[in-house]
Amino acid sequence: MTERRLCAAADLPPGAVRVFEVGPWSLAAARVANAVHVVENRCSHDDGPLGAGRLVEGASGSAEIECPRHGARFELATGRASRMPAVSPIERFPARVSGDDVLVDIPEDA
Ligand code: FES
Repeated sequence: MTERRLCAAADLPPGAVRVFEVGPWSLAAARVANAVHVVENRCSHDDGPLGAGRLVEGASGSAEIECPRHGARFELATGRASRMPAVSPIERFPARVSGDDVLVDIPEDA
């Protein structure tokens, strides 16, 4: 894994979802309260753009992102598909706020 700066923390306020291109990856970053989540910007159902989706609260109270194409949902903390039509998880990338920056770990070959 390689640590990369994704953006300024101020550019990803709570409740926001933004898309970033990092190497070969298109990433969707979301901030829920003080937690930053970064997932692949591609729904496991049919490649929908998750970064254009909305943040929702899941049945267990977990933060989820809803695909704008057919409404599948994914837990941001685990990548698990929580609502059909998706059944497979999405890729997650460890991320955090450090000082004024949002940092993400991505595979070294990216
Ligand atoms: S592409 Fe995301 S729910 Fe179908």
